[in-house]
Amino acid sequence: MTRFWYLLFLLLPLAATAQTAPERYPLIPYPASLTPATGTFTITKNTQLALPKDSKRFAQEAEQLQNLLRNGVGASLKTAKKPAANGIELRYDASITAPEGYKLTITPQQVTLAAKEPAGMFRAVQTVRQLLPPTVEKAGKSVPLTLPAVQIQDQPAYSWRGMHLDVSRHFFDVAYLKKYMDLLALYKFNKLHLHLTDDQGWRLEIKKYPKLTEVGAWRTFNNQDSACIKKSKDNPDFALEPKHLRQRNGQTEYGGFYTQDDMRGIISYAAARHIEVIPEIDMPGHMMAAIRAYPFLTCNGKNDWGKLFSTPICPCNETTYEFVENVLTEVAALFPSPYVHIGADEVDKTSWSTTACTELMQKEGIKDVNGLQSYFVRRVERFLQSKGKKMIGWDDMLEGGIDASATVMYWRSWVKDAPAKAIRNGNPLIMTPVSTLYFDNLPDKNSVEKVYNFDVVPADLDPATAQKAILGAQANLWTEQVPSENRADYMVMPRMTALAEVVWTNKTQYASYLSRLRQHYPRLAQLNVHYRVPDLAGFSEESVFTDKTSLQVEKPLDNLILRYTTDGSTPTPTSPVLPAALPITEPTTVKLVAFTPEGLRGDTYTIRYKQQPYAAPVSAKSPAPGLTATYFTGYFKKSALMQEAKANGSTTVTSVQVPKQAEADQFGVQFRGYLDVPETGIYTFYLTCDDGGTLRLADRMVVDNDGLHSAIEKTGQVALAKGLHPIALDFVEGGGGYTLLLKYSKDGSEPREIPASWLKH
Ligand code: ACM
Repeated sequence: MTRFWYLLFLLLPLAATAQTAPERYPLIPYPASLTPATGTFTITKNTQLALPKDSKRFAQEAEQLQNLLRNGVGASLKTAKKPAANGIELRYDASITAPEGYKLTITPQQVTLAAKEPAGMFRAVQTVRQLLPPTVEKAGKSVPLTLPAVQIQDQPAYSWRGMHLDVSRHFFDVAYLKKYMDLLALYKFNKLHLHLTDDQGWRLEIKKYPKLTEVGAWRTFNNQDSACIKKSKDNPDFALEPKHLRQRNGQTEYGGFYTQDDMRGIISYAAARHIEVIPEIDMPGHMMAAIRAYPFLTCNGKNDWGKLFSTPICPCNETTYEFVENVLTEVAALFPSPYVHIGADEVDKTSWSTTACTELMQKEGIKDVNGLQSYFVRRVERFLQSKGKKMIGWDDMLEGGIDASATVMYWRSWVKDAPAKAIRNGNPLIMTPVSTLYFDNLPDKNSVEKVYNFDVVPADLDPATAQKAILGAQANLWTEQVPSENRADYMVMPRMTALAEVVWTNKTQYASYLSRLRQHYPRLAQLNVHYRVPDLAGFSEESVFTDKTSLQVEKPLDNLILRYTTDGSTPTPTSPVLPAALPITEPTTVKLVAFTPEGLRGDTYTIRYKQQPYAAPVSAKSPAPGLTATYFTGYFKKSALMQEAKANGSTTVTSVQVPKQAEADQFGVQFRGYLDVPETGIYTFYLTCDDGGTLRLADRMVVDNDGLHSAIEKTGQVALAKGLHPIALDFVEGGGGYTLLLKYSKDGSEPREIPASWLKH
């Protein structure tokens, strides 16, 4: 017995990996290497802070650490020339060669943060910050500060760890950008990509072209604004920020821009946090705001919308290049980043048919309008190179051909071979696929895990070559439907913490990450982040009962207060608190909202209870395995529209998956047959689709996830007696890549795949 316990004791430190340590070390991203240790270090007013001999080296990081600790101990720590017993030391360590690498050693006697570069020291300070209580985030909260003993050796997996913000569709001011960068810093991101210009607004002062901001930074409300204003009736986060409205000539105008001085302030705030700001000036498309100010920029004098995209600037006129070069000269001088992003995405080239275009094509031997785009991109790249800059563009620019020196930002998930094509062409790559890393896609209960499971290097690429070409990954927040700061917070947080761990640590384990994430909410609350309250669980929004049931909700955070209504109204902070089990004895609609102690409200859940008998099974003579999949090519906004279309073909599938022959840019599939359920019960189905889908079983609508949208999971229940039940699953894809996933659960089991043996036709 004694020997057994002794052995267990010896094994403990080895077992204390990411799975067992999350409570004590709630770090996101998790360090590359962490060795737990016992005991704590206590910081008091008398703790001394020692700097390296060359005290300027980490002066900024020392100040940042002081600012943090001052909130806890009420005063700055005294600085010392030499490390003191019971002190904190910032140590220069030339042996730490990884960029942004650092070592952190905490014992009950001493804290040592070691780095070679200030960037590494900054990341070390952020690690210390996350080990301190959340109250250090605010001044005036004097609590004992303790740090758990530990040994950390850390460096990032990827050099490009980015977040993007579209400040064109809605403007976000300097103060908000600072808040955004504070979050980037906390989670060890190092790139902020600002989408500064687009059809809806030009946001950067260009001295040579003042009308870009005088005219281009302001608009009367467009249809996206109207949609947001409409939604704000139900959700105040959709209201436009009043501070970005102004009155001009009797009209309300909406917008804003950064002066070059503002931008210098943003850049220096970023630099102090070792974040690089990458400007994007999107061209030749997405240029309506500039064209509104300077109409000479187009080929045909028009400034309107084509089938999908707006009129671009004209690649055939020298006046265009003069403008572009003048703008980029100012941009290149303003931003210290080695990169300038020129967009080069989504160009409607139909206006590129003037005499000037024909002449240019003849002169340069250009075959078609894609060649004109390529000519434009190459010429702009050469100009940027003359200013000492590297060019980034979206992967659309691969189409007409680009030089190997261009950096490609991959976003079009549906163009699966684009990364391989870029790598073959020699281009460095940054991964931002729309399917996972577009944070304008509405978050749901699966989106954090989806981001966490994202592989920076796609599985179908040769790992050695891809690892060299891929600089890292970035999430993008396009803001057509994100008009407010609160909404922006909600869309990025907590998803960006999952990405932080993907790009810094190359992941650990999702369960460990989730447990650490739970401990981050109080810190986010201290930082006034309007995060998305994590999802409630334990119920289906379309619920079914045969006799009676009860609603029992699982809370992801203990301190959430759940309030509900049954009269159809949206719960308010004064609605009744949900009991541990709410009895349901008749068809009822329950609306449910979680509130945090700070007053943040979670999403509204509507749980509809339907009473139904177990559906009786049907009989079928020796049904064959699998389902019939009938497929259609075309654009269907709703799955019912397939009924009026002519099918392309039909096949048998052994799982609910789109057959290869059905795949097209826009298509639909009708799956038909029987589901052979092995026992009587209430079944829950989980249907994730991009775009739309509906699931009917036993002629009952079970999940309605129809319409055009990104990958969203919806659930529904149905009471089924053992045996065969007709199944009808309709699925439509409207363009941009599809997702279709059907799972089930019964009696509270984890969602699982539908066994192939259940599918018959
Ligand atoms: C993009 O989303 N158009 C890059």
